[in-house]
This record gives sequence, structure tokens and C-alpha cells, in this order.
Amino acid sequence: MIVLGIETSCDETSVGIVQDGRIILSNKISSQIDIHKKYGGVVPEIASRRHMELICYVVDEALKEANITLNDIDAVSVTYGPGLIGALVVGLSFAKAIAFSLKKPLIGVNHIEGHIAANYLEHKDLEPPFVCLVVSGGHTILVEVVDYTEFNVIGSTTDDAAGEAFDKVARYLGLGYPGGPAINRVAEKGNRFAFDFPKSYMEEGNYNFSFSGLKTAVINFINGLRQKSQDIPIEDIAASFQRSVVEVLVYKLINLCDRKGIRKAALAGGVAANTELRLLLSEEAAKRGISIFFPSPILCTDNAAMIASAGYFRYKSGYVSDLFLNAVSDLKL
Ligand code: KG4
Ligand code: ZN
Repeated sequence: MIVLGIETSCDETSVGIVQDGRIILSNKISSQIDIHKKYGGVVPEIASRRHMELICYVVDEALKEANITLNDIDAVSVTYGPGLIGALVVGLSFAKAIAFSLKKPLIGVNHIEGHIAANYLEHKDLEPPFVCLVVSGGHTILVEVVDYTEFNVIGSTTDDAAGEAFDKVARYLGLGYPGGPAINRVAEKGNRFAFDFPKSYMEEGNYNFSFSGLKTAVINFINGLRQKSQDIPIEDIAASFQRSVVEVLVYKLINLCDRKGIRKAALAGGVAANTELRLLLSEEAAKRGISIFFPSPILCTDNAAMIASAGYFRYKSGYVSDLFLNAVSDLKL
């Protein structure tokens, strides 16, 4: 079964074509990062307009690379939330038009479910149940993946998402947008134990997250140095901040595996590309005999192959959407 996936929930216009939920035939991603960079973050209205300009071309490119035509598609899968409402509407309308004209099923997909499915593309034998930590610019969610379309959300952030904290701290350090990759890069040259920034909700059995206190602590620390006209040790701050985030994420994920007695854990979402997170999680999991899965970096950040994969598994579980499907900016998993 060949599924064409469309993803336009934020600042990537992406079209992916996936066979049987596991094999990527193409995964085209047109990033708008260069456009939004000068504003220090994504400008929703600009993102929607750019999706409109690009979507036809990205679909064409994806078909070309997969070496198929639209008639070879068995179903169309599309992100209908969560995300920027105007941006979502562009991809959703386009997906509806293709599905309607080809008389093929339309499958609406939750973006977070798509991030989780990126693991099925990377690891051909991975099957639920497993525990997954979805960490992106908009979400920090610990979820028990009971089945391909059945999720048990155990914890989530009470304020900023992990990626958001990376982006805000990076901005304050003058490292630009997006901040996650920039902090990750700069931190490699820093001492992760230089400063002890706070870690929230570390008590046993608490699976929620909070990153705004950490973000504020880092910003106050930088302000303090600036007021005293002292040098800002950017690399050490980046490395210490990153350690605080990563230690919380790893601790909670491992702890949940132990509590549930599940020996399989996966990462998903943009922050899952973080090398420090991947390293620490691999080390801690190995000590406890937990198998760890993460997608390659290109499948961690927003892409449509993951939406096509999630769409395939939704279809196999009997879900099909109708043409009245609407975009839902705060769609829950
Ligand atoms: O999943 P994603 O592409 O979009 C959302 O659904 O939000 O995630 C983007 C987020 C951004 O906050 C970005 O700074 C972060 O993922 N990110 C990283 C890294 N690469 C991307 N954060 C930490 N380390 C990285 N290497
Ligand atoms: Zn995402």
C-alpha cells in the first residue's frame, strides 16, 4: 500500500511517499527556516503563504523521486493538528483535493502520532508496546504506545516544551533560530558541569515536565554577568543548560520504563536529534537492559514520511477521514 503524506503544521512544507508504513520512497522537505530566521521564530502568516506557494512543487518532487504518478497512490494522509491553524489548512485542503480527485481515502493524522511513527520507518521490526518520549518545539510528552493507534499519555509539560526552552535560551545567547541545533553544537566545546541549573519535578512518580524555571534561571544568570560586565561563557552555559534538560528527560523516560516493566523505549520529535540526549539515554538504558530506538536526525524533525507512515497504520486499524475534516490547532494525542 502506497501512502502519500502531507505535513504543513509549522515551517516545513513536506511531502513523503511511504510503502506499507515502513519503506520511504521519497521524503521531500522544503524548510522555511531561512525566511523566519530574521524574525527569531516562526511567523504564522508568512508560514501559511509560503506553504501555498510551495505545496504543488513539493508534491511533484516527491512523486518524481519515488518514480510514481498520482495514480499509483492508494491513500492520502495529512497532518490536521496540532500546529499553526493557517499552515495546517493549506496541507489539509491540498490533501482533500488530491483524495477527492483520485477517489482515494483521506486519513487525518495527529502530528505527534506522526513523530512517533518516524521510529517505524527507521526500525523495521519495532512494534508496540513501547514507551516514547516526544520532545519537539511545541511538545514534551511521555506516552505509552499501547498499539499503533492507541496511546496512553503519562505526562507532559506544564509550561514550555523542551525545544522551546532550547530556542529561547539560544536566542538569549545570540545563537539564532532554531536554537536546539545551535546549542547542541556550541555545547560540544563547553563544560557541562560548569553550572548547576535547576531541574524540575524530579520527585519519584512525577512524569510531568517544566522548563520555564530553568529557562528563567539561565536568562537571569546571563543578565547577572552582563550587569557586572563579565564575559559570557556561552559554551559552558549551553552545555550546562543542555545537561539539565537532558538529565530530566532521560530520568523520567527510564523511570517510566521501570514502573511499567516495559523494556523498549523510543525518542521522537526535533529535540530527539540532540546528540547529548541520545548518548545519555543510550548509556542509562544499556545499564538496565532497555532497548532504545531513535529516528535518524532527518526523521526526528518535521517531515511527511512520518505522516504517511502513521496514516498507513491508522488506515490498517480502520480509520478513514471524510472531506469535512477540519484542522485542529490544539489537537490532543
Ligand atoms: O519536531 P520539530 O521539527 O517541530 C515541532 O513539531 O515542534 O522540532 C523542532 C524543535 C525546535 O525547538 C528545535 O530547536 C529542536 O526541535 N531541535 C533540537 C535539535 N534539533 C532540533 N533541540 C536540541 N538539539 C538538537 N540537535
Ligand atoms: Zn513536529
